[in-house]
Amino acid sequence: MTAMSRVLSGLQPSGDLHLGNYLGAIRNWVADQDAHDAFYCIVDLHALTLDIDPAELRTRTYETALDLLAAGLDPERCTLFVQSHVTEHAEMAWLLECTATMGELRRMTQFKDKSAGKDSVRVGLFTYPVLQAADILLYDAERVPVGEDQRQHLELARELAIRFNHRFGPTLVVPEASIPKMGARVMDLQHPERKMSKSVASPLGTILILDEPADILRKVRKAVTDTDGEVRYDPEAKPGLSNLMELLAVATERTPEDVAGSYARYGDLKDDAGEALVELLRPLRERREALAADPGAVATLLAVGAKKARSTASATYRRAAEAMGLLAPG
Ligand code: AMP
Ligand code: TRP
Repeated sequence: MTAMSRVLSGLQPSGDLHLGNYLGAIRNWVADQDAHDAFYCIVDLHALTLDIDPAELRTRTYETALDLLAAGLDPERCTLFVQSHVTEHAEMAWLLECTATMGELRRMTQFKDKSAGKDSVRVGLFTYPVLQAADILLYDAERVPVGEDQRQHLELARELAIRFNHRFGPTLVVPEASIPKMGARVMDLQHPERKMSKSVASPLGTILILDEPADILRKVRKAVTDTDGEVRYDPEAKPGLSNLMELLAVATERTPEDVAGSYARYGDLKDDAGEALVELLRPLRERREALAADPGAVATLLAVGAKKARSTASATYRRAAEAMGLLAPG
């Protein structure tokens, strides 16, 4: 029997998860639990790069754990943990910072976007992708399921691993990004030219995974489409309608082209897309309620996850530290 391949991914504790997070990322994490040795990390250290209130960070970290469990992560089948509970993440980030260059971090588009126009930019925002590389490399992850927007950060993680191995001898596993084709970009329902996102306030354009069914139906009904009335899958010319087709397609395991062929009117497509999304998200909402009733149980699950994560992370960290010439302790 061959050992299961290792996958790792991370999610910021940035509040209510939306449909883009679920379809672009978390749904695939759930699917990966059985066929892979999967590690999933709530990246609270990364959240410190934002201006976030301490009490709020704590609450959101806990709530993100609830959301992930509600979405179907099962601590019996994967390792779910909070990044700051495994101190090797910060330690490994330092080792990697001593191999990364200013030039390559300056090229990161996420850094450019988040720092644009600001006169005071935190160092943590700049080194964010190195901490992300540490998250990945600590677990010898072969595959990293992420959304399209993380492609550049994954390239950096690969590059740092290759460079490390070249300079210090074979030590780190070189990871590969795994980016889904379907659901990789869920667009805002009100502004279908941009992706659904929690950083841009668009209450009517964003479906939260915990939205009430009536709200989901209302948001889909009000989704912006176009006025020519022709039902056709064409993301360039018809971004709003095509987004709804993609959503209906992923929720019902069809292709958008197949969906397009089944409708003559926008209204019917919207009705079915709304219903399909309500059904897709129903079990999540139900599980979330059950979990929220027992906060102690969630804390225990996270402690078990951290312990499992630590045993892998500490071994890799020691390997890397010693390869670089740090004296082994005792
Ligand atoms: P974020 O909300 O940006 O922290 O993203 C968390 C995860 O969800 C990442 O893997 C993203 O690539 C993914 N993601 C975020 N927004 C979307 C979206 N609109 N469509 C698809 N995937 C998304
Ligand atoms: N930067 C990622 C995002 O914003 C989150 C993240 C942190 C991550 N560490 C990771 C993703 C490690 C994959 C692997 O979505």
